[in-house]
Amino acid sequence: MSKAKTDDKADKISPDLDTPSDLPQAAVDKISASLNILLADAFALYLKTKNFHWHVSGRHFHDYHLMLDEQSDAIFATTDQIAERVRKLGGATLKSIGAIAKHQTIKDNDEGYVPPGEMLRELMDDNKQMAAAMRKAHKLADDQEDSGTAGLLETFIDETERRTWFLFEASRQEGSNAA
Ligand SMILES: [Fe+2]
Repeated sequence: MSKAKTDDKADKISPDLDTPSDLPQAAVDKISASLNILLADAFALYLKTKNFHWHVSGRHFHDYHLMLDEQSDAIFATTDQIAERVRKLGGATLKSIGAIAKHQTIKDNDEGYVPPGEMLRELMDDNKQMAAAMRKAHKLADDQEDSGTAGLLETFIDETERRTWFLFEASRQEGSNAA
């Protein structure tokens, strides 16, 4: 039986890897595409958070260095779960750094120096953007009665909002106490 898939090569599934699912193929395609963008963004945000962990400077170095390490670990931990959710549905997920670059909506930051307050604000905005994208993916999953994906995203939305909260509070302190 032929199945209509998206044109995107990264989302194409070999018939040998088409995990059985009672969900309609159109639902699998839509949810997989949505999860693959979240996956690319999780990798992009993971590396940006690590980048800032490595390059943060100044009087709050120790606190920020540790907070960003904790956040990058938590973001990285979501990647395997998102990718395996796609495979559980019968979709294909990302296969390379090139596929991440093609799918990501979170912007890289390759600047030579970023002031610490700006790092926190940028990551806060990125996490807000991710939470909004997860909410959209959650609605899509809910509409298709895919409660497995919806349940996974509920936890990730909460964790993303926790990161936003920490980044907001830490950057606020930086603003009011900056030397
Ligand atoms: Fe480290």
